[in-house]
Amino acid sequence: MKFHTVETAPQDWAGDGLAIGLWQAPTTDDQPIALPSEWAELDARFNGTLTELITETEFKAKAGATVSARIGGNSPVRKVILVGMGKTADLTLDGVRRAAAAIARTAKKQRCKTLALCLPLADLNPGLAVQAMTEGIELALYQDQRFKSEPDKVPPPDRVDFLGYGDQLAAIARAQAICAGVQLARELVAAPANAVTPVTLAETAKEIAETAGWTIEVLGKEACEQLGMGAYLGVAQATELPPQFIHLTYQPAGTPRRKLAIIGKGLTFDSGGLNIKGAGSGIEMMKMDMAGAGAALGAAKALSLLAPPDVEVHFISPATENMISGHALHPGDIVTASNGKTIEVNNTDAEGRLTLADALVFAEKLGVEAIVDLATLTGACVVALGDRIAGLWSSDAALSEQLQQAATQAGEKLWPMPLEDKYFDGMKSPIADMKNAGPRNAGAITAALFLKQFVKETPWAHLDIAGPAWLEKADGYNSPGATGFGVRTLVNWVLS
Ligand code: BES
Ligand code: MN
Ligand code: ZN
Repeated sequence: MKFHTVETAPQDWAGDGLAIGLWQAPTTDDQPIALPSEWAELDARFNGTLTELITETEFKAKAGATVSARIGGNSPVRKVILVGMGKTADLTLDGVRRAAAAIARTAKKQRCKTLALCLPLADLNPGLAVQAMTEGIELALYQDQRFKSEPDKVPPPDRVDFLGYGDQLAAIARAQAICAGVQLARELVAAPANAVTPVTLAETAKEIAETAGWTIEVLGKEACEQLGMGAYLGVAQATELPPQFIHLTYQPAGTPRRKLAIIGKGLTFDSGGLNIKGAGSGIEMMKMDMAGAGAALGAAKALSLLAPPDVEVHFISPATENMISGHALHPGDIVTASNGKTIEVNNTDAEGRLTLADALVFAEKLGVEAIVDLATLTGACVVALGDRIAGLWSSDAALSEQLQQAATQAGEKLWPMPLEDKYFDGMKSPIADMKNAGPRNAGAITAALFLKQFVKETPWAHLDIAGPAWLEKADGYNSPGATGFGVRTLVNWVLS
């Protein structure tokens, strides 16, 4: 798909689909809207198609709603698409992203090869809005056909024009880089465990490094043993596949102003271990338990295209599977993490935190200013926040604020959650320094408190993305399946 910003007036544009954004009435919600006078000339030229379409479909311009009609005759425009922008006062960048996504889906259905968008922005920044529209279109039209023997034959639009936003080529390029990252994350997360393994994840990281000239180090089992990573290696000891501790580094051309670490949970399959996930537990979905790693690598991909001049970023993933065999951790085993702390593994299904413990210790030794980890860590977080919102825990108010701002601009929702130290009482072990799993209540909080034990003083934040990493139903620019959640927030955070 090629995107352009052009100053052509809508009445002078020629092509398959002309999309026009209309505001919902500020007070009445249930009335069809009146066509604003600025569109009267175009409506006349289209023989009244716009007013007719609004009346016939009782179009109320609710956010993300679309209707379309054929113009007919010898019109230079084949179809007009109306999209609801919602109420002016409620419009956000993500509303623009969603409106563009709705247009893209309609345009594809209507077989539009060329498409123009003319959406009102209220007081939103035109550059950020063009970026959001480009993202909305790219992400909504993304289709994963790798595992289909017969691909979808309906082509997406091949040219998109944004009308009247000034020259925004830089915004389009930024959006395309970010979408390349989101798409990589979606591909990695959606791929089953027999397609994406710890070795595949490491190879993906190597490819990013080779293409962009970054540094990559992948520690195998022996190297991790040398570093004393007993928690991570405990999880990895039953699988037939070699553990791959991935460390990908971006060093900018200039002197870095900031030095950051991003850690992604990289369980390419989580069977639960000997505390095996039973029938009805969603075990078949546990190919997505590397969505943290997917987000980290997706952000790396985007940043490899954006090459920010003054920030150094370390991308880390302790990749492995959580399997069962004669080598598996026994429930009750005690492992020692690389900071010397001992952990009684009272539940082998609380494996993500064991792998992250060693990754956090590793990251802190790099001397970074901040560490953010992303993990599909707990079912409890899904119970608390559902599939649209990730939980955010942080030891540092400024970092928490930065991430929330980055997420808002990205259209990804984070909700701040408490690090209630008293709840760590539930993780006390009579025999070791701590257990790895606490009681049922506040399970997402105790998981975060467990991680906190492995960070000494570096500002740290933990995102539990178990809910939003995967969607059952299409929503805006996300189709059912892997969402690539976290990539856009991470990129915004690194660039901020
Ligand atoms: N990978 C799961 C969490 C998960 C659940 C991710 C649903 C995505 C969707 C994690 O390793 C896990 O099994 N957590 C346990 C922790 C418990 C044993 C303390 C859980 O949430 O049940
Ligand atoms: Mn588990
Ligand atoms: Zn897991």
